[in-house]
Formats: sequence, structure tokens, C-alpha cells
Amino acid sequence: MKDASLLPVTLFDSGVGGLTVLKALAARLPAEDLLYLGDTARLPYGTKGRDTIIRYTLRAAQKLVDNGTKMLVVACNTATAAALPALREHFAPLPVLGVVDPGARAAARASRNGEIVVIATEATITDGAYQRAITRIRPEAHVQGRACTLFVPMAEEGWMDGPLVEGIARRYLEDLFTPAVTAPRPDTLLLGCTHFPLLHAALQNVVGPQVRIVDSAASTAESVGEELARLGLLRADGPTGVRRFMTTDNRNRFARTGSLFLGSPLKSADVEIIDL
Ligand code: DGL
Repeated sequence: MKDASLLPVTLFDSGVGGLTVLKALAARLPAEDLLYLGDTARLPYGTKGRDTIIRYTLRAAQKLVDNGTKMLVVACNTATAAALPALREHFAPLPVLGVVDPGARAAARASRNGEIVVIATEATITDGAYQRAITRIRPEAHVQGRACTLFVPMAEEGWMDGPLVEGIARRYLEDLFTPAVTAPRPDTLLLGCTHFPLLHAALQNVVGPQVRIVDSAASTAESVGEELARLGLLRADGPTGVRRFMTTDNRNRFARTGSLFLGSPLKSADVEIIDL
């Protein structure tokens, strides 16, 4: 029988945003083979209903499971919030990790005064997954959620900074970061969508330098490493692993926008088109 530790870790996102998680994983666990699927044909997930998100996510995950995998990482907050329990049930005993708990941990650790703002897609905010996950860790925390729908197409378009981006960010966030004189000001902004790390600098300008901005990429990579080690599935050393990329639509666009999220060039010839 094939050694299960040699199988790839597979990552799923609705589009290219989850590449921020792949980047963190590749840096932390360089010897692991990583296979990424972005369901760009159905993006965005964040404005869709829960049942649709679950259906799409199960179908995409099946593709990755059929390929052979030792762990499925749901590198999409929207899919994690809606579909994590369904994925775990459907694919048991395969370990399935999401990005919400690691992101919540990062925010709970970062905040000094427990005043946390989480920004994400409409589906993630409506679900309340982050609000619940943070208060499980820090029951005294006051968590405010805000759906920032336009940030997804802006990041996909490569609009990461400048007056237009900051203007839109200000419109979404201003009231949360300039509360009444008596209310404590939020000290932590959690990026609860894998697309948002691209806007980090613009968001920092809008919320001010004293606010800590955190996302789930690094803490998810940490959790994946810990879980693989616990299960005896970790490839701790060896040559750099293979990275494979699959998308459901337009590999030229996936490669172009994906390069922004990865922070290194991705060629369209390295992206495989698949159907779900
Ligand atoms: N990448 C998804 C997330 O992390 C958002 C993009 C979408 O709306 O599909 O929530």
C-alpha cells in the first residue's frame, strides 16, 4: 500500500484568493506536495445562498479526493463557514481543515482590548462563523462583522491601493473605526476572506497604524503542520514538493491574477482546466 504521507495536501477555494494560504503553506511545509483547485467558473461564492455553497464545495472537494489526498484544506472562508461540517461528514475519515478557526485564533491573540472587526463576504458574515469562533476563544470579546462584497472583484482586478480603493474601504469601515467617544475603538481587523490580504496596505491606511490587521493564512499553515504531525502524515524534510494548480475556467486569467496572490509568477501552461 502507498505511504499516505506521500499524498498531496489539497487546497480548495472559489477562486485565486486561497493562493495566499498556499503561499503560507509552501513556506512553512516546503516538502509537501500541494494541489490547488480554484472554482473560478462559479466565483463568487460569497453572494450565494448556503445550500448552493455547500453543493459547489462538495462537488469540488470530490474532485480533489478522487485525485488522492491526505488532507483537504478549505482555503476559502465562505466555503468553510457554510460547508465544513458537511465536508467532514461526507469525506470522513479524511482530515478536513478550514480557515475560520485559525483566523479566529490569530485575531483573538492579536487583540489587546477584545474589540475586533471581521470583514468578509456577505455569506461568511451572515453565517456568523467568525463571531462564534472568536467568542469561543475569548468570551469577553466584542466582535463586529461587516460584509465587504466589492473587495473580492477589486482584488481579482489587481486594484490593491490608491484613492479609489481607499475610498471604497472607507465607505465600508469608517463608522466602525470612528465610534462614539465613550465606546472603545476596535484594535484588530481580521481579514475573513482569502482575497483581502492583497488590500492590506490600503486597509491599514484607512483604519490607522494602531490597528492590527490579521488574516488566517499563516495560522492555517501552522494548524495544517500540527495536524499532519499529529496524524503521522507530515513530510518534514526532503526536496521541495510539487505544486499543481487546477481551475474550472480561463486559465490565462487564473495565472495572471493568481500571480498577484502568490507573489510570484504563475504561467498559464502550469494551470490545468478541469470540469466539475
Ligand atoms: N475566497 C472567498 C473567501 O475566502 C471569497 C470569494 C468568493 O466570494 O467566492 O471567502
